[in-house]
Amino acid sequence: MPRTFGGTVETSSRPIMLVSAHRNTGGQVDERAVSRGRRNGVKYARRMSRFALPLAVLIACGSCSDPRPSRPGRPTPSAPASSVSDAEPVDEIALAGEARAKASELAQRLQAQLQAAMASGGPSAAVKACQAVAPAVAAELSREGWTVRRTATRLRNPANAPDEWERAALSGFEQRLGAGEAAGELETFKLNRNGPNTSFRYAKAIVTRPVCTTCHGQAIAPAVVATLDELYPLDQARGFAEGSLRGMFSLTKRW
Ligand code: HEC
Repeated sequence: MPRTFGGTVETSSRPIMLVSAHRNTGGQVDERAVSRGRRNGVKYARRMSRFALPLAVLIACGSCSDPRPSRPGRPTPSAPASSVSDAEPVDEIALAGEARAKASELAQRLQAQLQAAMASGGPSAAVKACQAVAPAVAAELSREGWTVRRTATRLRNPANAPDEWERAALSGFEQRLGAGEAAGELETFKLNRNGPNTSFRYAKAIVTRPVCTTCHGQAIAPAVVATLDELYPLDQARGFAEGSLRGMFSLTKRW
């Protein structure tokens, strides 16, 4: 039965249960997933080292592009190489671990580059650098069937606009944050079985931290405002308070 992304977003229950199961049981299942993700992270880190120089000026900004996911074949005995049959089991826990590791790798990479760019050129230069270099990160992490991006309800770059599933995930995160859930644990995921169009979606909240308010906060310096006005005339990503939901990492796996 084909499903679309338009349905209700995965409610908080499953991811929360996973997180607590991990904590309460020693997390055998989750640990495997996470360590697999870490191994992948190391692989990506090696690949990324080739891009160290051009990325040196990258800051914590979203991807300017929305790269189409690649669809590499995954040979299995029961399904054509390029798709997952409805009968084939899919390890959602492992996929969530992989996605979580990729999201955290992206976060760390952007944070490191943000600090470097701010220190060397200041925030206005960092804004410009961001617009030029950001697509490299999304492209680099969007491999092996994965698409990695960031999105938000209030956008700086309209190219980062959320689709229906992402919008629902964002509003779910707002509610959970409002209900007092810890920001660092806000995630959700969903497997959409649809023959050759089967996809796995994962979302993790991005919460505004003090460093982010330089470019997304309530009192942005005039020089930064001028740069933002010039590069992002439709910018809605200002006025965020520390601790509020800035957006989310969105990861999609296709086969
Ligand atoms: C130096 C200025 C600067 C700082 C500091 C900064 N950002 Fe951004 N941010 C940008 C720019 C510029 C973009 C638009 C990138 C693009 O064109 O895709 C952006 C885009 C984003 C997006 C993608 C969604 C959108 O609105 O287009 C998210 C999410 C985001 N930033 C979160 C953060 C977080 C979280 C922090 C703090 C860790 C942060 N930013 C710090 C400049 C900044």
